[in-house]
Amino acid sequence: MTTTINSQRDSIRYRSRLLQPEKERSAGTHPLTWRLRDDGAAVWLDEYLRKDGYQSVRKALGQGDPRAIIATLKEANVRGRGGAGFSAGLKWSLTLQGGDMPRGYLICNADEMEPGTFKDRLLMEQQPHLLIEGMILGAYANNARFGYIFLRGEYLESARVLNRALQEARDAGWLGPDIDGSGFDFDIVVHSGAGRYICGEETALINSLEGKRANPRAKPPFPGQSGAWGKPSVVNNVETLCNVPAVILHGADWYQGLSGDRTDDGGSKLYGVSGPVHRPGLWELPMGTTGQEILDLAGGLRDGHTLKAWLPGGASTGFLLPEHLELPLDFDTVGKEGSRLGTGLLTVVPDSQSMVALMGNLEAFFARESCGWCTPCRDGLPWTVKLLQALEQGKGEPGDIELLDKLAADCGPGLTFCAHAPGAAMPLQTALKHFRHEFEQGISRSRGPAHQDAIPLGSV
Ligand SMILES: Cc1cc2nc3c(=O)[nH]c(=O)nc-3n(C[C@H](O)[C@H](O)[C@H](O)COP(=O)(O)O)c2cc1C
Ligand code: SF4
Repeated sequence: MTTTINSQRDSIRYRSRLLQPEKERSAGTHPLTWRLRDDGAAVWLDEYLRKDGYQSVRKALGQGDPRAIIATLKEANVRGRGGAGFSAGLKWSLTLQGGDMPRGYLICNADEMEPGTFKDRLLMEQQPHLLIEGMILGAYANNARFGYIFLRGEYLESARVLNRALQEARDAGWLGPDIDGSGFDFDIVVHSGAGRYICGEETALINSLEGKRANPRAKPPFPGQSGAWGKPSVVNNVETLCNVPAVILHGADWYQGLSGDRTDDGGSKLYGVSGPVHRPGLWELPMGTTGQEILDLAGGLRDGHTLKAWLPGGASTGFLLPEHLELPLDFDTVGKEGSRLGTGLLTVVPDSQSMVALMGNLEAFFARESCGWCTPCRDGLPWTVKLLQALEQGKGEPGDIELLDKLAADCGPGLTFCAHAPGAAMPLQTALKHFRHEFEQGISRSRGPAHQDAIPLGSV
């Protein structure tokens, strides 16, 4: 009992913070956060309804044309906020439905275990009805009968808030049979995971939901064809789904206009910063905001620190340099620089931080979280950890850096079942590219413990 109480307290103490006051946010410019309160308390149903809540569900279900929702999302170019940036409208247009097809599932990916990422938690803890509204629209567009919120196990406060909001929505007729008199039925449950990073991969998530071991599935078939329990299933990130209500209410042109001429990607984005900055936290900003603008909002680096590198969107993205701060942070621009926008939450690395030690830490995380299905990931990642630890202690050998290059290349895109291994390779490859001299400094001439076992299987 004591453990539970302490965990709940910790969960609340570390809540995500939006650092824009209410007076700076409006419905026209901040579709994700304009309803949030300055005191950080959850927006419950009464307040949500006073602030246009469930109006897009009323509009879309009243029009009775699920395909129109998909067309609007496609036109708005809503790109998935879970990391890959896949078009939500395109994904929904590929879900099998009609004819003899059984009604399937709408699954919200709320696993959020990417190191440095804390955006979905803000939305769930402070504005649960926006997510529920987005899920109803997603379910209607995809003819889903039932919804799951697959929630990171440690997010106890999110579970508490979501469950209360789901009950409010049910009691008011926004969930359950015949929603708002439309004849459409849909309900949602929260499924708390057991706390594995790989459960965030959409097909591993589906296996986990079914009560199986969380190994990713081979694709095809894609979840939209055969997902949870063999039925058509759509998996979307929390922030992606939270974008849908405003797109439906205000239209594709309005959504596109939110990012102005910064980028071709429409809408706004929850950007954030962690690391040694004055004000770590979150901001809802136009898509395509630059890293420098975000860093300025965070008050810059704390005294005594200068910027060495930064990750644009979680541990599985590639390191960028100070010279990249002026780039618009959108999916394609960051991709062209050899990184990924990922979750859009910046991790700042100061000059004082050893890249070798940092990489050892990150790869230990990725090695531990590997599901063990593919050889380069299961065996290669622990090997990188052993080499990195040796380099950190000045006990590396000639050839170690080339071996790290090779192990990372073996984890590249298309060589493993899922994107976990490429995600582990990208920060390592970019660290080796930009900061190779730091790794070279760890090479010694004497033979160290890192080299005594050929392959350190399961050593991490
Ligand atoms: C190892 C791994 C972990 C992932 N974790 C998450 C996660 O926590 N949340 C998330 O939305 N997507 C995560 N993804 C991406 C999902 O597989 C999937 O692309 C995403 O949920 C789709 O939603 P979106 O199209 O709305 O972005 C992860 C992918 C991998 C390979
Ligand atoms: S890449 Fe890693 S996490 Fe993904 S399926 Fe292979 S072993 Fe599992």
